[in-house]
Amino acid sequence: MTMSVSAPPAPAPVSAGPFHRYSVHSDARHLLGLEGMTRDVLLALLEDAALEREWLRSGAPNRADLAGCSVMLAFVEDSTRTRMSFEVAARRLGANALTFNAGASSLNKGETLLDTMRLFEAMGAQLLIVRHSMSGAPAYLAQHLRATGVINAGDGMHEHPTQGLLDLLTLRDAWHGEFEGRRLAIVGDIAHSRVARSAIAGLTTLGAHVTVCGPGTLLPADVELLGCTVAPTVEDAMEGADAVMALRIQKERMEGGLLPSLVEYAREWGVNHERVALLKPDAVVMHPGPVNRGVELQAAVADSGRSVILDQVANGVAARCAVLKRCWQACREAA
Ligand code: CP
Repeated sequence: MTMSVSAPPAPAPVSAGPFHRYSVHSDARHLLGLEGMTRDVLLALLEDAALEREWLRSGAPNRADLAGCSVMLAFVEDSTRTRMSFEVAARRLGANALTFNAGASSLNKGETLLDTMRLFEAMGAQLLIVRHSMSGAPAYLAQHLRATGVINAGDGMHEHPTQGLLDLLTLRDAWHGEFEGRRLAIVGDIAHSRVARSAIAGLTTLGAHVTVCGPGTLLPADVELLGCTVAPTVEDAMEGADAVMALRIQKERMEGGLLPSLVEYAREWGVNHERVALLKPDAVVMHPGPVNRGVELQAAVADSGRSVILDQVANGVAARCAVLKRCWQACREAA
């Protein structure tokens, strides 16, 4: 009898380690994280994403790179950008893309996550795109499914590798292709941020530096093991930086006493015009979205010429095209 366990192994506590070590790169059918990905693979993915972006911008018709590939979008946690851009990318490349509605599924009757994904494998899905609140859920599936490639679309506090790739592509443009010697400041809830973890992993591999800052309650105890430095104030973090990324404040964290109030957060840590003036003159402002306007990011900054937030969104489709092609090619080679 199958146990009614709907989740993979419990995530490690925030302070237990810089990354939950689920990333594997030996099997290119899967993309589970950017930690441990080689510089060569990262650069190749970025180069391909840049080419895909040119094609997407050209308005050329759909292609057939993923013809015959069934892609299942299994988002067991809410998403707008990631889900929609994966769907756009898969369809533009000729895949048969289907979306799983987790909220109206038999997960609610106690069916396990693995049993659910095995159904999709039995139905012919060749690539699973998985978002889940549990760190390690995509790796758990990659280990237990037989033939299906698994792409991590954000797992708990672990990683969000395609967000990391789109952020790298955005910075590649802003920094004219040169990561060495550049510095990104990341401001906000580092402890719970899979976006920060993927950005730090990718940027440090490419030779850039990352400074983080945020309320002490939202910084992992061993944050420096991630390969970044910690600034005591947001001004220290942003002074002379080549870019800043504001992270979404997850309002539910206030309930646990990790944050005082949104007004105080905005005053102490918010990215506003005064603080943006501390950046280098050509530095850009990033946010993974969704934005709490007026909290972690002043609305006028989000809408300013320094903001590349919508470029990040557009780059997401291109980055996901590159990832889908890579994983699908590896699936075919393994078949
Ligand atoms: N950046 C990001 O993951 O956004 P969504 O939650 O809307 O996918």
